Amino acid sequence: MKTPREALLLGTLLSPIGYVFAACECGYIQNNTALWTSTLHTNFTQVNTTNDWAVQERISPQNATVAPYGITREIRNVEFNPASSNDSLKAKDGSQAGLLLYVRSKLETGSDGTLVPAAEIRTTRRDIQYGSFRAGIHATNVKGTCGAFFWYLNDTQEIDMELLSAGTSSNPSYLDLSLQSEQSFLNGGNVELTPAFKNASLPFIASEGTHEYRFDWTPNKVSFYVDGSWLYDMTGSAYVPISSGQLILNHWSNGNAGWSGGPPKADAKMTVTYVTAYFNSTDAQSNANFQQTCRSRATQPDAMCAILSPAFPLSSGSSGRVAFRMGSLFGSWRPVFTVAGFLYVLFDVCV
Ligand SMILES: *[C@@H]1O[C@H](CO)[C@@H](O)[C@H](O)[C@H]1NC(C)=O
Ligand SMILES: *[C@@H]1O[C@H](CO)[C@@H](O)[C@H](O)[C@H]1NC(C)=O
Ligand SMILES: *[C@@H]1O[C@H](CO)[C@@H](O)[C@H](O)[C@H]1NC(C)=O
Ligand SMILES: *[C@@H]1O[C@H](CO)[C@@H](O)[C@H](O)[C@H]1NC(C)=O
Ligand SMILES: *[C@@H]1O[C@H](CO)[C@@H](O)[C@H](O)[C@H]1NC(C)=O
Ligand SMILES: *[C@@H]1O[C@H](CO)[C@@H](O)[C@H](O)[C@H]1NC(C)=O
Ligand SMILES: *[C@@H]1O[C@H](CO)[C@@H](O)[C@H](O)[C@H]1NC(C)=O
Ligand SMILES: *[C@@H]1O[C@H](CO)[C@@H](O)[C@H](O)[C@H]1NC(C)=O
Repeated sequence: MKTPREALLLGTLLSPIGYVFAACECGYIQNNTALWTSTLHTNFTQVNTTNDWAVQERISPQNATVAPYGITREIRNVEFNPASSNDSLKAKDGSQAGLLLYVRSKLETGSDGTLVPAAEIRTTRRDIQYGSFRAGIHATNVKGTCGAFFWYLNDTQEIDMELLSAGTSSNPSYLDLSLQSEQSFLNGGNVELTPAFKNASLPFIASEGTHEYRFDWTPNKVSFYVDGSWLYDMTGSAYVPISSGQLILNHWSNGNAGWSGGPPKADAKMTVTYVTAYFNSTDAQSNANFQQTCRSRATQPDAMCAILSPAFPLSSGSSGRVAFRMGSLFGSWRPVFTVAGFLYVLFDVCV
């Protein structure tokens, strides 16, 4: 078995024009109530470089008691499909720009058994505890995969939004929401047998467009949303996670009829257009920096920013809809025209 490996998303920056947060040194206010200290924003239609995410290379060996096939998460299954110009969300060939996560139909057989080639990226930060997490996702229409946007520490501390492609082209389409817990762990990972599971109907056909999938996590509750509309709440201290962890996006199949189905008959593509997260950190140094920077800026009108929802206009087709105004209460957006400024502000540390 290969040693698990991570590769940072590396390459060049396509667009030197970006929109960055005005200042927000004192954090991000949500619905006039929650305050988050930190943010992470990756616009996958525009960039193919960031230290915020790492592509996974990792194998789950074939094990007949688990599923018909194993899974091999490979770097080649994560592809950039950049927008063809600064103001477009379309790639050169007219397809939706973004990060492409593939599940391949051609299986691989080796010492770990027969494996389905899959794709996964994780945040390099693992200090994420509570927040509001949003991803623009265009689900595949090829049946036999699971596309997921989730927060993870381990198999008992996990918040999941999962698109099983058996149900992404039907009307209605379905989205599975769950909190993995001690209880699901004791059920062999079957979260459907616990109260922290919901098979939600979507108000759109998931494979026909890009939509914002979002979860808001506080100590007592996880609320799930699509395109800014509330879908479902989960509560209960036995289920709501309390640790710090990382954000993950993946697209996989292991042939399990009860979940992913498949493997897919053709290569299945899930497109991620962006991830925007507002959250708190468990990292002492980050928190000390936040306190210090906020103190030095606290009297400035743009030191605290407001979050509206959904995070951003969702696609070129919906540009008439002004869905986001950062800092409409306390500050404003500010375009930055220098490459260096863009990299520095958006990604903190970069190439
Ligand atoms: C990023 O984009 C540049 C320019 O288009 C390209 O040369 C490079 O190979 C890309 N990197 C990755 C990792 O796709
Ligand atoms: C926003 O706050 C109001 C007043 O506290 C509350 O009634 C409402 O449910 C909140 N909305 C969300 C999306 O949390
Ligand atoms: C997030 O951090 C801010 C600033 O320290 C704090 O006021 C807020 O209560 C924290 N939120 C949660 C859910 O812990
Ligand atoms: C296969 O999975 C079962 C159930 O999780 C586990 O008990 C067993 O050890 C696994 N077999 C191998 C060879 O890893
Ligand atoms: C993006 O905009 C910059 C500055 O206006 C320009 O130099 C660059 O060529 C543009 N890139 C693309 C792909 O259109
Ligand atoms: C990503 O960049 C494109 C082009 O600048 C822009 O139209 C779109 O709104 C951005 N999306 C997000 C979520 O930042
Ligand atoms: C997950 O992490 C929590 C917090 O550290 C711990 O209590 C729990 O036992 C862990 N669960 C597993 C399955 O390792
Ligand atoms: C969700 O409900 C639909 C409609 O009943 C069903 O086809 C699908 O299998 C369900 N998904 C799960 C994971 O149970």
